[in-house]
Amino acid sequence: EKGGWSSFMAKEISEEPEAVAKTLLGRITDGTVHLSELDPIGDEVLANVDRIIVIACGTAAYAGMLGKYAIEKWSRIPVEVELSHEFRYRDPILNERTLVVSISQSGETMDTLMAVKYATAASAQVLSICNTQGATIPRESHAVIYTHAGPEVAVASTKAFVAQVTALYLLGLHLAKSRGTLTAEEIAENAAELQAIPAKIDEVLVVSQSIKQLAHWMTDTQSVLFLGRNVGYPVALEGALKLKELAYIHAEGFAAGELKHGPIALIEPGQIVFVVVPSPRDPNSLHPKVVSNIQEIRARGARVIAIAEKGDAAVLPFADEVIPIPLAGSLFEPLLAVVPLHIFGMELAAAKGLDVDQPRNLAKSVTVE
Ligand code: F6R
Repeated sequence: EKGGWSSFMAKEISEEPEAVAKTLLGRITDGTVHLSELDPIGDEVLANVDRIIVIACGTAAYAGMLGKYAIEKWSRIPVEVELSHEFRYRDPILNERTLVVSISQSGETMDTLMAVKYATAASAQVLSICNTQGATIPRESHAVIYTHAGPEVAVASTKAFVAQVTALYLLGLHLAKSRGTLTAEEIAENAAELQAIPAKIDEVLVVSQSIKQLAHWMTDTQSVLFLGRNVGYPVALEGALKLKELAYIHAEGFAAGELKHGPIALIEPGQIVFVVVPSPRDPNSLHPKVVSNIQEIRARGARVIAIAEKGDAAVLPFADEVIPIPLAGSLFEPLLAVVPLHIFGMELAAAKGLDVDQPRNLAKSVTVE
């Protein structure tokens, strides 16, 4: 039930902190991560895995892209992310050392289910990340990590996304532990970062309220661009998808570094651009590069809405609006930066008088190919 909320989507965004917290529950003890869910695959088989292929569609695939950054960094296992419907039609190279990780909120998405069946038939190990107990995809897989976001009713995926990212990060830490690619201290630090996320999302939910006004003056907007780099890139893609499906506005997400390779030609006076800005604190941060991207598009008349770390003074002179997010380790920033974008999609759709929970032409689970 919606409770006092105006829509299921509003309720589900408010549950994003809880979705992360419940997905972490019982999986981090004494600063270390253990996923007994992987037992059916077995330590020996897992130790031989030399490649991971993540398969998913839509928002779940963007969660998968974030998983790639974390899993590769922590476990040093090469990860590819592929849309389920592309994967099985291209004769992918799979064997018993390939771990296929499927991600699906519903557990019923036909494209992903068929890709899972294809992978098991090709003798890959299949682990599924799923939000729906006993759904078809987990039943067809060797092992399953359930996300505990609770039932998601609104067609647009929100709380399931942050839960999927959480599960992938736990998987990354588990693999790093079993391979010894991170020290116990490093695992504890990253586990603590994850555990701090729910309270930080609570903060983001409060500061994101300013988005409502933004949405109100944007109801006639024809096009919105989203830029991000590194882990900010999948966040940009997710922001754009939400705007397309909910507000029926043409939106595109770009890797910020790609701007000069074409998309910058789209920038004309008044173009609205959301920019996901990495933390300035990280020594390897792409912060200066993203700030210079902001300057470039601003000089061409774009209106910039920056999602940036609290206290980041460098973006202030160049942004029309800044949404401040709490400090977090670089890999964890997406779990915070995505929240205002979820709210923005919802608020813009509501401001246009559209049905936020049931966008046209879409179904909650896509059970046809
Ligand atoms: C976007 C959205 C879809 C789903 C996709 C996969 O907001 O909801 O892109 O993420 O259809 O669905 P599941 O996760 O059920 O396989």
